[in-house]
Amino acid sequence: MSRAHVDHRAIARFAEERVNLPRDKADEYRAQARRLREKLETYLDEHPNFTLRRMMLSGSLAKGTALRTLNDIDVAVYISGSDAPHDVKQLLEYLAERLRKAFPNFSPDQVKPQTYSVTVSFKGTGLDVDVVPVLYAGDSAWRGNLVSQEDGSFLETSIPLHLEFIRKRKRAQETHFAQVARLLKFWARRMKQEREGFRFKSFMVELILAHLTDQGQDLSDYPDAMQAFFTYIARSNLRQRIVFTDHYPVSDVGKCFDVVQIFDPINPTNNVAKLYTAEQADAIVDAALDAGDAIDAALSAPTKELTVRYWQKVLGSTFQG
Ligand SMILES: Nc1ncnc2c1ncn2[C@@H]1O[C@H](COP(=O)(O)OP(=O)(O)OP(=O)(O)O)[C@@H](O)[C@H]1O
Ligand SMILES: [Mg+2]
Repeated sequence: MSRAHVDHRAIARFAEERVNLPRDKADEYRAQARRLREKLETYLDEHPNFTLRRMMLSGSLAKGTALRTLNDIDVAVYISGSDAPHDVKQLLEYLAERLRKAFPNFSPDQVKPQTYSVTVSFKGTGLDVDVVPVLYAGDSAWRGNLVSQEDGSFLETSIPLHLEFIRKRKRAQETHFAQVARLLKFWARRMKQEREGFRFKSFMVELILAHLTDQGQDLSDYPDAMQAFFTYIARSNLRQRIVFTDHYPVSDVGKCFDVVQIFDPINPTNNVAKLYTAEQADAIVDAALDAGDAIDAALSAPTKELTVRYWQKVLGSTFQG
């Protein structure tokens, strides 16, 4: 493939400048989450029977896959005790009431239940913290019932084991795994803006990329790595089951008729893609075909101008080569 006009380094530079959350911002937001966690820990020291057991950074800030467009800090709060409601709406009210107790310096309107989470907003600087409840019964690996941000159902899973799962792939391909994940999330975000009804959640993007990594795909050349991801989606039609054996054997995944099947590495009964319809899967396949074609065209285009124009189909018009 020709790299004369736009090469790996051009994509890497674009990622640094336009895609990635800058390190100082990431550090600032992580510190913000840490201060909130420490507040809770202080409260717990004085109230050992308090039912909010732990606060944990989750989501892209914890995984090191956050985009520049990050708009909230994801945090999971572990709730134990038999008096915690199991109805989501009531659980969120309960969580908000408890958070107000633990953070008396916050005014009540700074702690607001949303559809499937509670936001804690800060006066002045910083992002809102999005607190997602996990019903927790004491598991040592912090397995618990996480409230799905898609439909409010309870998902039995473990945030720290997810973080370890991603860390393992990041170690296998230092800097490249996280960078390619961010480039692909950036692409998916653009598709959501451009194409009506398009959805492709970040965790699915990361799990597909982890699958390719596990199969030996080298991610050190970003045009090749992105092309490999799009090619996988096009070839599999997104209808090939993906299962990881970090925590259970493949045979633990039972019969399943969901259109897209990407199983939670922690729980063989949790299909992360279960809500995706055939139409939505087809839309992802179409978008991946278009992106793959654009990269192919870019790599054989005769002029710099044309090459850049093809890359813009994948990365948007802010890409200037
Ligand atoms: N269906 C699911 N089953 C189990 N865990 C899930 C599921 N969806 C999300 N999670 C957990 O929530 C975390 C955050 O979700 P997701 O990866 O979609 O968002 P993110 O990494 O914060 O990305 P974004 O940049 O889009 O906010 C995941 O890393 C995973 O631990
Ligand atoms: Mg997030």
